[in-house]
Amino acid sequence: MRCRYLAPCFLGILLITFIAPVHAQNADAPRLEKRGETTQLIVDGKPYLILGAEVHNSSSSSLDYLQAEWPRLAAMGLNTVLTPVSWELIEPTEGKFDFTLVDGLLAAAHQQHLHLVLLWLASWKNGMSSYPPVWVKQDTKRFPRVVEDGRPVNILSTFGAETLAADERAFAALMRHLREVDGHERTVLMMQVENEVGVLGSARDHSDVANRAFAGPVPGQLLRYLDEHRAMLNPDLHALWNEHGTKTSGTWTEVFGDTPRTAEIFMAWQYAKFVQTVAAKGKEAYELPMYVNAWLGGEDVVPGDYPSGGPQPRVMDVWKAAGFAIDIYAPDLYSPDLYGWAHRYHRPDNPLFLPETRGGEAGAANVFYILGEHAAIGFSPFGIDNWATPATGEMAEKEKGGADALRVSYNAIASIEPMLLEAQSKGTVHGFVLDKQRSSVTFVMQGYDVEVSLDEIFGNHAENGFGMILETGPDAFLGIGKGFRVKFTPRDSGAKHVGIGTIQEGRFEKGNWIAGRGLNGDENDQGEYWRFDPHELRLEKVTLYHFD
Ligand code: DGJ
Repeated sequence: MRCRYLAPCFLGILLITFIAPVHAQNADAPRLEKRGETTQLIVDGKPYLILGAEVHNSSSSSLDYLQAEWPRLAAMGLNTVLTPVSWELIEPTEGKFDFTLVDGLLAAAHQQHLHLVLLWLASWKNGMSSYPPVWVKQDTKRFPRVVEDGRPVNILSTFGAETLAADERAFAALMRHLREVDGHERTVLMMQVENEVGVLGSARDHSDVANRAFAGPVPGQLLRYLDEHRAMLNPDLHALWNEHGTKTSGTWTEVFGDTPRTAEIFMAWQYAKFVQTVAAKGKEAYELPMYVNAWLGGEDVVPGDYPSGGPQPRVMDVWKAAGFAIDIYAPDLYSPDLYGWAHRYHRPDNPLFLPETRGGEAGAANVFYILGEHAAIGFSPFGIDNWATPATGEMAEKEKGGADALRVSYNAIASIEPMLLEAQSKGTVHGFVLDKQRSSVTFVMQGYDVEVSLDEIFGNHAENGFGMILETGPDAFLGIGKGFRVKFTPRDSGAKHVGIGTIQEGRFEKGNWIAGRGLNGDENDQGEYWRFDPHELRLEKVTLYHFD
């Protein structure tokens, strides 16, 4: 009798001993959480802002190369570095994984108190397939290519079942390794799955299998999703679907029309199924937030000029219909139309994250708009290790200027991080970036129209301005930035007039406000405006008063 129960008991003890620690180490893994009006990244149980930057594509292939960079990166005010981990380097021989580079990255980042976001450069990078290991690249039978104009090109086809199996196996091995070596430290915050996927050179794959699928019906899973989410679909996708009769069954061209837009939707579905599957396999091994990034299209280009099928705003719902493993669709936002793209990607079901964007002076300004106006979870200029490396002559000055500007912005934002995160979740912060084309913006806070415009005093005009305004209490606000001025006007025309009571400049040290000058006279245009100097980034507190 006793013997009959011994085996299950022993098994139970084994399970408790070996499985419990795995769960314990994952309990506090970085995760995304809806907090108030927005979704935030939670790290070590607290909301976290990624003040990041991405290194160049090849930098993390050599620990020696990066060794000199780490202290410089840390000195630049970053809290997170985005860095590639490529399939070719972790699985150079099929089935044999080598995580030496990954371990070296983790150790170096940890030493500098930096977090990492790892970019899984695998089947696709910038649409092409340069990062799979050579054993994949050379076996075009097992790992078929996209066909364009009757010829295979340097892009793995989404229809390759063995490609998917090999990619997801390698990604799961990486995630398993991360759970084992980093599950406690939690240096790695998120994973980017692939990089800027999509077909380049044509709007779709023209291999036989792809042609057959394109001639076949639109999967019910996709059409059901569109039907059930009509109210929140991307307006362009919704309009296209409506134009063709809002059908809930039919072939791709019957449902969406016979244009390159349909080919793009078709490819989006194929890439989404593939990438969602890879991400889901990775999450089974270690559940970290995962995102995909997009090489942005636009009005003047057609799918294939940019990777067709990548997560453009107008096919984001197609990606969502294909699975749940991808948490964020993220723009690589280099376009001057920062406002337009940020609006398209920031949706109630898609928090904004900029994994790649412009750095330098532009990045140092744009970060305020992205974090303040769009409650973004993070910001990350591309190619950071170039600016951090001392160059010579004029270039050195330019790079240093850019790096310095980002450092100043990041340090100032870091000093108010908990307050900003709280304001993001309550919807009590606005952000802006101003120039001659967009010299003012107006938003509503506490019943006031808050007009923010480029700074101006005695005929001197600032050419650029940026910043954020946070509510700190009734008639009390904190401003951060430079080159702008602010006017508060009650929205209720019957309300009393409003005036500037006090302005105090200062800074935060470990969360405590260290007051500087009280600003008045020329510094607030004789009580007319709350002003922010165009020469230096400032933190200022203002209180308002009312009069008849
Ligand atoms: C976008 C890509 O995602 C990056 O890896 C890099 O190639 C940059 N473009 C270069 O600007």
